[in-house]
Amino acid sequence: QWTTSSIVDDQVKRIAEQVGDGRAICGLSGGVDSAVAAALVQRAIGERLTCVFVDHGLLRSGERTQVERDFVAATGVNLVTVDARERFLDALAGVTDPEEKRKIIGREFIRVFEQAERDLKAEGDYKFLVQGTLYPDVVESGGGEGAANIKSHHNVGGLPDDLQFELVEPLRLLFKDEVRRVGLELGLPETIVQRQPFPGPGLGIRIIGAVDAERLETLRAADAIAREELTAAGLDGEIWQCPVVLLADVRSVGVQGDGRTYGHPIVLRPVSSEDAMTADWTRLPYEVLERISTRITNEVAEVNRVVLDVTSKPPGTIEWE
Ligand code: XMP
Repeated sequence: QWTTSSIVDDQVKRIAEQVGDGRAICGLSGGVDSAVAAALVQRAIGERLTCVFVDHGLLRSGERTQVERDFVAATGVNLVTVDARERFLDALAGVTDPEEKRKIIGREFIRVFEQAERDLKAEGDYKFLVQGTLYPDVVESGGGEGAANIKSHHNVGGLPDDLQFELVEPLRLLFKDEVRRVGLELGLPETIVQRQPFPGPGLGIRIIGAVDAERLETLRAADAIAREELTAAGLDGEIWQCPVVLLADVRSVGVQGDGRTYGHPIVLRPVSSEDAMTADWTRLPYEVLERISTRITNEVAEVNRVVLDVTSKPPGTIEWE
């Protein structure tokens, strides 16, 4: 019988054995998984863990400050923030294929961690890289038994072949609800543990088409409005997550005031799920959908239409790419 505290004890022991007296870098994304993985490793090796938060420019509004503030406050962990916005945007320029995007993002993450490792040399050798990989990430990246490659999660199928780090992945056999329980057991605050999932590749896989700074700006603005309204309506606990997607290569005709518009659609993708392996589209109240739609089309200049994704998983996946 696996209790949460036995999972914690077991993993802390395994991490301590694996890392020995070595040092580890942990990429923090702001999400639950990397936060819990980091907290577990911190319990096992303490000060010899350094967390690296990569600002890849594909983040949602407010995310960077949230990690810098909340996670450090909760754990007192050593945190290095790397501004890698230019690097990621350059690498993604003109790329439209979803798998290619995922591989580029996975690779650039590792390049940033390698640079961090060189920068931290004075403290000692950082040979280990901690990742918050979950069981579903492994299965859907084609790592599970008999599994097809549905999409390469940035931290599994998206890793470069010449990886120099030894991976530490204490959550690799767990599902999200178990990870949340482990996080609470470790004393992480609800604001971190109950956060809705957000993918490592961030907004990069929510722009359908090539990623650039302007498109990111548009999507970030629309996403902030959707999140604000869902929170205001008290719906955060009811949905698993609600990706907001920009169809950057699609335009449609609209009208605003006396004028014609020719803008992009935004897709709302609210889903309910137990473990992200399957999902149902969430029946959001019409009034909430209406408020989100009105605000996005009024406040985000490039967007003139908001559409709702009513596909379950399968056949759709949660993210569009
Ligand atoms: P899909 O789109 O495969 O998503 O139905 C399942 C869950 O996984 C999240 N997701 C990711 N998380 N790296 C992550 O850390 C990734 O590359 C990635 N791709 C998808 C997605 O947001 C959903 O919660």
